[in-house]
Amino acid sequence: MTMYENIAGLRADQRFADTDHWAAHGVQWASGESKRIECLSVVDETHDVKTFTFHCPDYHSLAYEPGQFLTISPVVEGQSVSRCYTLSSTPTRPFTFSITVKRVPGGTVSNWLHDNLRAGDALNASGPAGVFTPVAGPARKMLYLSAGSGVTPVMAMTRAAADLHAELDIVFVHSARTPKDIIFRDELSRLQRSMSHFRTVFFCESKGDEDDWSGPMGRLSLAELKERIPDFMEREVFTCGPKGYMDAVQALLGSAGFDMSHYHQESFDINAEVVEVAAEADAPNQDLGTFTVRLARSGKEFTMTSDQTVLAAAKKAGAVVPSSCSQGVCGTCKTAVLEGSVEMKHNGGIRQREIDKGLRLLCCSRPTSNLVIDL
Ligand code: FES
Repeated sequence: MTMYENIAGLRADQRFADTDHWAAHGVQWASGESKRIECLSVVDETHDVKTFTFHCPDYHSLAYEPGQFLTISPVVEGQSVSRCYTLSSTPTRPFTFSITVKRVPGGTVSNWLHDNLRAGDALNASGPAGVFTPVAGPARKMLYLSAGSGVTPVMAMTRAAADLHAELDIVFVHSARTPKDIIFRDELSRLQRSMSHFRTVFFCESKGDEDDWSGPMGRLSLAELKERIPDFMEREVFTCGPKGYMDAVQALLGSAGFDMSHYHQESFDINAEVVEVAAEADAPNQDLGTFTVRLARSGKEFTMTSDQTVLAAAKKAGAVVPSSCSQGVCGTCKTAVLEGSVEMKHNGGIRQREIDKGLRLLCCSRPTSNLVIDL
């Protein structure tokens, strides 16, 4: 019996007092490697948001930068489905890690997680990845702007700053529908009391059932920003939330003459599960080039036009292609193009050396010739 099998046979309280268990801690989960992870707990954050905490059953630690995401692949109705979720936990405590997931109407994975995942269950995960981290904009004065479940990366950054006593000056501005929808509200309030240079500002669209709410109401505006964070022009800004929110923030800062080289936003709302839209694969446009695509492994063949992504067309043709973000960020749809060429516009989900080897992200690749792909 191996050391890991020995430890696996112990109850959690026995493991806590076991020498082998502590010796096994600390081997690092190699970046990009796919691993089995086990759910340790599920906590309700709001009425439609839950935090799922995991560990690696072999006690490997997870090295990541706050703000990065993990791609998880649960089996839903017999099919492995991948989605990326930002890690809301802090990398300063690398043996357990969390994702915080909002239930999305029609969202396959978010609903499955909310309805099915319990402590003790296991699923596959890969990563971590992502460039929306403090490394993108090192500074001492920060302004975090988030809305809805976009709070998770800036929460990870805040928790890490608190754990490390990083002596950052942070203003944490979060927008929610009602006070009850403010994710991590209690913890953020606690942090505000315990960290000397940490301040929260919560904006709510309505009071909901909290009549005594005295915080700002409505949406973030330039006037509010100037009044509540007078030195916002001197801060490094990190923004995450629904696309409409991030666009509005960008426009608002632009109108103030903010130096956008100090502005960072998540490349898309990574935490809002994309509900698959097939429209892109519908109605081929006769004016566009039509190409044949052959899937080398299954022998399947289909035609598509040059305005479709290979991913959308392949899925429409019935191929099973792992995918998650559909934005060229997460790398889940990376596949070798064996013959032919595509035009690919990615958002950091693939490295140059992988492109040199013939790999492409199918979610952001459109054909420029007939193709044979490794599926
Ligand atoms: Fe995320 Fe293609 S699905 S990069």
